[in-house]
Amino acid sequence: MAGFKLSAGVGLLGLAARSLAVPAPIYSEPTTTFSVPKITAVVEPVTDVTSHGTYTGPSPLTTGALSTSVLAPSVPALPPGPDAYKYPSDGQLHAPQPAPYTPAGGVGTNGSAPVYRVLSDFDYQSIALALHQEWIELDLFHWGLATFSVEDFEEAGLTAEDRHLIEFMADQEVGHATLLSNILGPSAPNQCTYNYPATNVHEFIDFCQKLTRYGESGVYGFLNHLNAHDVGQLLLQSITTEARQQMIFRQFEGLFPMPEWFEVGIPQSWAWSLLAPYISSCPENNTRLIWQNYPALNILNQPNPFRINGSYVWNETTDGGYANTASYQDIDESDDCTKSTDVGASCAPGITRNRSMPLSYPGRQVFLEWDEPGKPIGPNNSYVTDTQAGAPKFAAWVSQLNVTYSPLENIQGNSAYTVQPDISSFDGNPAINGTIFLVLTDEDLYVTPYNLTQLNPHVYAVGMYQSG
Ligand SMILES: *[C@@H]1O[C@H](CO)[C@@H](O)[C@H](O)[C@H]1NC(C)=O
Ligand SMILES: *[C@@H]1O[C@H](CO)[C@@H](O)[C@H](O)[C@H]1NC(C)=O
Ligand SMILES: *[C@@H]1O[C@H](CO)[C@@H](O)[C@H](O)[C@H]1NC(C)=O
Ligand SMILES: *[C@@H]1O[C@H](CO)[C@@H](O)[C@H](O)[C@H]1NC(C)=O
Ligand SMILES: *[C@@H]1O[C@H](CO)[C@@H](O)[C@H](O)[C@H]1NC(C)=O
Ligand SMILES: *[C@@H]1O[C@H](CO)[C@@H](O)[C@H](O)[C@H]1NC(C)=O
Ligand SMILES: *[C@@H]1O[C@H](CO)[C@@H](O)[C@H](O)[C@H]1NC(C)=O
Ligand SMILES: *[C@@H]1O[C@H](CO)[C@@H](O)[C@H](O)[C@H]1NC(C)=O
Ligand SMILES: *[C@@H]1O[C@H](CO)[C@@H](O)[C@H](O)[C@H]1NC(C)=O
Repeated sequence: MAGFKLSAGVGLLGLAARSLAVPAPIYSEPTTTFSVPKITAVVEPVTDVTSHGTYTGPSPLTTGALSTSVLAPSVPALPPGPDAYKYPSDGQLHAPQPAPYTPAGGVGTNGSAPVYRVLSDFDYQSIALALHQEWIELDLFHWGLATFSVEDFEEAGLTAEDRHLIEFMADQEVGHATLLSNILGPSAPNQCTYNYPATNVHEFIDFCQKLTRYGESGVYGFLNHLNAHDVGQLLLQSITTEARQQMIFRQFEGLFPMPEWFEVGIPQSWAWSLLAPYISSCPENNTRLIWQNYPALNILNQPNPFRINGSYVWNETTDGGYANTASYQDIDESDDCTKSTDVGASCAPGITRNRSMPLSYPGRQVFLEWDEPGKPIGPNNSYVTDTQAGAPKFAAWVSQLNVTYSPLENIQGNSAYTVQPDISSFDGNPAINGTIFLVLTDEDLYVTPYNLTQLNPHVYAVGMYQSG
């Protein structure tokens, strides 16, 4: 304080001396003695989950997704709506302004108070799905910290400061789960118990990185379709935090933090298909969801980010489908990038890393195996995998703004291979890079980011692909 006042100069001290009535100038030391009320909100109670592992309890009393009467097998594809081309995008104003500096139009701009309530089954089911995602993240981040020792983390290159960040990310989930529970009210789904495909720190980080990717993308898929735009606003402000978590886990894994120009959105049923297998049981009477559980897509040569030559792999996932989490077992020291310190080879935790050998590339043969529908899955094994699609013929690469199909070759029973296509979102930006979605379809239907859900009746199996 003294130093600051001295540096303010003689003239200023003179002013203060002349008139004591003059209010303290802004450059004076602020007082710290005011007491202000603490403004806070009660968080949703969180239990420390004690049991983990696959579900071994009694058969569920209720099975299958929630449903009501179903009006048609799919939503028909229609031409653009009547007003789609009405507004001339010419930089001029076309209507009187409701107020100064306020352009006409927009949603939720007429002054009516936002109430932050869901307005439709679509809204409820979407927010309930997002809430399940927040619950699993909360538990997963705590589980990793509790399960692996300080030595395990240090060995994986993650320091006390890094572990604090993981703990902080778990705390963020408390806030997100509280927010979404409050929006839904008393019927909001509660926290469940989970099982994770990870037996060491590296696999834990890889699973977190993949799980937060489908969490983030699952919300982007429905956010702009919600009836309740005020709810969408709150969810947006949570999911952007989740997006940062995804990137941090990539950095913890020594991957390039964001090799894409655009983040991808996916339909709710894909997100639920990827999430449900890792939920082992939910409390009695937990509110159920409407979403579909697709059969698993197992990527037999899923690129392994822990190898220097990550594309040179066979059958190295810990879960054999869905997230297709990388295994960190039996990797020769000479091909273990977590142990390397060479630029281009190292995948030690870092702000950014260059891989000189890509995890995947256009022209790569990708070997696939998929499950049949009809398998019990999810909480208490109380959901059942299902598809409305005919036999799979294509792999759909869903990344950034693009859905690109490559034909399945050499189909034998439930296995085939396909070849990674060479596509860009825009020139100079390979569309297939990062943690992306790979699904099998019976048709190469043209869909774009806002109508991707139209693909659902053609989807046979769902998985994630580590393309970069
Ligand atoms: C999806 O939207 C695109 C236009 O963005 C349209 O051409 C395509 O037909 C739509 N697909 C379906 C299945 O509705
Ligand atoms: C304002 O918009 C809301 C929907 O956001 C609508 O329910 C309400 O009727 C509108 N109020 C007026 C005065 O137009
Ligand atoms: C799921 O299993 C748990 C543990 O056996 C049990 O407490 C719970 O009631 C079951 N929930 C449902 C919805 O069946
Ligand atoms: C579950 O719902 C049934 C029927 O409404 C009720 O009798 C039972 O007490 C509920 N169980 C719990 C644990 O809330
Ligand atoms: C890396 O793996 C690919 C197979 O995916 C192989 O063709 C290539 O020769 C390997 N590169 C080196 C340097 O070992
Ligand atoms: C992959 O490995 C598992 C055991 O780790 C084995 O059961 C399975 O048959 C293997 N699949 C293929 C296609 O090699
Ligand atoms: C990283 O890769 C880019 C090309 O993707 C290259 O231009 C750059 O020189 C590389 N940097 C290092 C330090 O290897
Ligand atoms: C993916 O992105 C990384 C980082 O920009 C880049 O080094 C790599 O070449 C890209 N992979 C492909 C297949 O373009
Ligand atoms: C990928 O999506 C972008 C944006 O919609 C589009 O311009 C581009 O043509 C698409 N690329 C391919 C190969 O379909």
